[in-house]
Amino acid sequence: MTNINTDIGKVKLKNPVLLASGTCGIAGREFESYFNLSDLGGIVTKSLSINPRTGNSTPRVVEIPNCGILNSIGLQNPGIDYFIKEELTYLKEKNATIILNVVGESMEDYLAVIDKIKDKKEITAIELNLSCPNVDGGLDFSQDPTKTSQLVSEVKKLTSIPVWAKLSPNVTDITLIAKACIDSGVEGLTLINTVIGLALDKKTLKPVLPRATGGYSGPAIKPIALRMVYQTHKKFPNTPIIGIGGIHTTQDAIEFLACGASAIQIGTASFKNPKTSIEIIDGLKKYMEENKIASVKEIVGQAHEQLAVK
Ligand SMILES: Cc1cc2nc3c(=O)[nH]c(=O)nc-3n(C[C@H](O)[C@H](O)[C@H](O)COP(=O)(O)O)c2cc1C
Repeated sequence: MTNINTDIGKVKLKNPVLLASGTCGIAGREFESYFNLSDLGGIVTKSLSINPRTGNSTPRVVEIPNCGILNSIGLQNPGIDYFIKEELTYLKEKNATIILNVVGESMEDYLAVIDKIKDKKEITAIELNLSCPNVDGGLDFSQDPTKTSQLVSEVKKLTSIPVWAKLSPNVTDITLIAKACIDSGVEGLTLINTVIGLALDKKTLKPVLPRATGGYSGPAIKPIALRMVYQTHKKFPNTPIIGIGGIHTTQDAIEFLACGASAIQIGTASFKNPKTSIEIIDGLKKYMEENKIASVKEIVGQAHEQLAVK
């Protein structure tokens, strides 16, 4: 019997595959015609702010052929009140495991959102988006360990719901920010958000996106994400990591687990094939059966053990 349960600190997930924030609508409803939402390890909501946000002007997405996409959505979302009223009960009825992704322009903004959901048992964990590259100040928290630490500490004072911090790859040393989060009490680290990129219009030779730069995601960022998961797990082997960035296949998912992730999220891949997440859950079970691996936890961190032997 294979066991694909995984733990992110106190949080027990039925399997290690989640849908990533911003790539499954507000909270996964659109995927219901493809599979049961309860079959997933979890659904991470779109980043929700205290007030609705209209996002950036268009165009907001550019495809980089064979590599992925560059987006500049600008955190468009209906706000936390809408989510609580229209989505939360519905998702619970569907038995979905809900991870609430929260964003703000200031500490007060974040705390105001947390205050609204701090006692909601329906929410399994909070993922703090510290790392959006597409709005002014979106990276302020994820590039400054002191600010990160203050934010996480204040959030932890407000709620007993487990807190995960989603970090940006747009830093020199991700382990410095990771440490600030760990020291302030996060239960998990989500690595990584998008990588800042730029695309030019072929004819005008001007940036395609309204803010010039955008967030790069998809297969091309997998080696960067893997490297960051690897480095962070090596330094902080006891802190659960949720790996994300360019995961499209079961093999990709296994590599993230081997580098030290205890769970993974599927983002851009769902745009190409909405069933990617569910196919990876099946693929993982098959891989474990074929290789006589009893628990998914046996795969976690394997890349480090093998290196140590050499
Ligand atoms: C269109 C789009 C919108 C996104 N919106 C959010 C968001 O609201 N909050 C967030 O934390 N991450 C957001 N992300 C980042 C993804 O959750 C993920 O971290 C990133 O895309 C890397 O994973 P991937 O290569 O599998 O897509 C968004 C990504 C895309 C492509």
